[in-house]
Amino acid sequence: MDGDPRPIGVFDSGMGGLTVLRAMEARLPAERFVYLGDTARLPYGTKSAETVQAYALQATRLLIEAGVKMVVIACNTASAVALDALKGALAPVPVIGVIEPGARACVAATRNNRIAVIATEGTVKGGAYVRAIGALSPDAIVVQRPCQVFVALAEEGWTDTTVTIAAAHHYLGALFDGPDAPDTLVLGCTHFPVLAATLRLIIGERVALVDSAATTASAVAKALAESGMASGERKSGGARFFATDSPERFARVGAIFLGRPIDVASVELVDLRPKESPSF
Ligand code: DGL
Repeated sequence: MDGDPRPIGVFDSGMGGLTVLRAMEARLPAERFVYLGDTARLPYGTKSAETVQAYALQATRLLIEAGVKMVVIACNTASAVALDALKGALAPVPVIGVIEPGARACVAATRNNRIAVIATEGTVKGGAYVRAIGALSPDAIVVQRPCQVFVALAEEGWTDTTVTIAAAHHYLGALFDGPDAPDTLVLGCTHFPVLAATLRLIIGERVALVDSAATTASAVAKALAESGMASGERKSGGARFFATDSPERFARVGAIFLGRPIDVASVELVDLRPKESPSF
């Protein structure tokens, strides 16, 4: 076969994963993408690992039914607590998460081996970044901060309001003071890249900001090339979208994360609840 024309599935709890899709569209313009945002059940970051695993499994099965050749878990929380379970359940379809590419990027960026990670409560609690960074650089000192309010601010499109600046002060104010402060900050949540300019105001110019979007896109490109599954197309692939709540809101707010308009007609409402669920 001259290339694999099937789309790549991309899954997030909501719209933050569109920052990862944006990087993949830039890196892999000939690929087609199917993006699913579980907007009805967002946030995942405050939920138990068991709940996130169950939701992520329901969501990614829908992507498999849509005929994808690979699944990208563009959600740090789901990558942190559900990646192994998803790899097992979706085999032989390959599954790629965002934690390992993010860990690689921050280990490459740090000069003093001190790394700060900001993420949701669930990602911090699961410790996946600490483990992934430790596996690559055993001497690295990693501090983590749960910053759940950033998710809501990003979803509102409040990327640079006084409230956002106050929240950034609250979470990060003291973290980068002193000679032993981290020199690298990992945006360990897909929603956070849209807040980067505001975070910069608080952390200063010298701290390296790492988000896993670009490194995940590179990991996907490598996996496609190695498995012979890259699209053989020359023209631009494009994307279609599934959301579990309001396509209108998905298109409007999602544009902030994707960095381009989303046609509401390209967003299909889907219901991930198991059929035997009671309806209210
Ligand atoms: N997508 C989630 C993540 O990257 C953030 C939003 C949520 O809490 O569901 O961790």
